[in-house]
Amino acid sequence: CVRGIMLRYIVAFCLLAVCWAQDCQVDNIQVMQNFNRTKYAGTWYAVAKKDPVGLFLLDNIVAQFNIAEDGQMTATAEGRVIILQQWELCAHMFATFEDTYDPAKFKMKYWGAAANLQTGYDDHWVISTDYDNYAVHYACREKGYDGTCIDSYSFVFSRHPTGLRPEDQYIVTQKKQEICLLGKYRRLSDACLLYLAGKEVSQPLLLYQAKSS
Ligand SMILES: *[C@@H]1O[C@H](CO)[C@@H](O)[C@H](O)[C@H]1NC(C)=O
Repeated sequence: CVRGIMLRYIVAFCLLAVCWAQDCQVDNIQVMQNFNRTKYAGTWYAVAKKDPVGLFLLDNIVAQFNIAEDGQMTATAEGRVIILQQWELCAHMFATFEDTYDPAKFKMKYWGAAANLQTGYDDHWVISTDYDNYAVHYACREKGYDGTCIDSYSFVFSRHPTGLRPEDQYIVTQKKQEICLLGKYRRLSDACLLYLAGKEVSQPLLLYQAKSS
């Protein structure tokens, strides 16, 4: 009988250990160590995305990160959006990044080239990257009382327009699990990218004329 109780304690302890291993507290999420924005600059293709509540860029996202001489990071992004509930556009977005105490954690201010596109101010965390092939991004828009995220979004980026290399899948899957979003992503289509590259696409798409001002 004593053994039975012992066994129950051991089982309970193991279950607890499993819970601890999956720590979904936003404050405990590990981000990229010694993040180097210079190496991160350049073009990234979004290959998978976990959406926030409500819509923003739908898919076909290609982001270009730039580092100014003063070190400030900015980005431009092209993506497919739906406006006025029916128009599909390849939209042009801009973002500026504010530094925080952690080099891999930024605050991102973003806005669209057109007034009817979304604007916002979100976290922008680089969870993991090898700079040359893959990057996992994360943003929590709203934390719950228990410290976990109730409205997050995340991008998996690749340096290659063809997607992630098979050898990068394992680390990306592991990082998705660490940010508690494994199984929540969807793959992105590349109709906008093909369109922007002047290729035939199956769906009709309009190209939004970006007005730089
Ligand atoms: C960041 O990367 C660039 C380019 O590879 C390099 O020149 C620079 O020394 C790196 N910065 C740090 C702090 O490691």
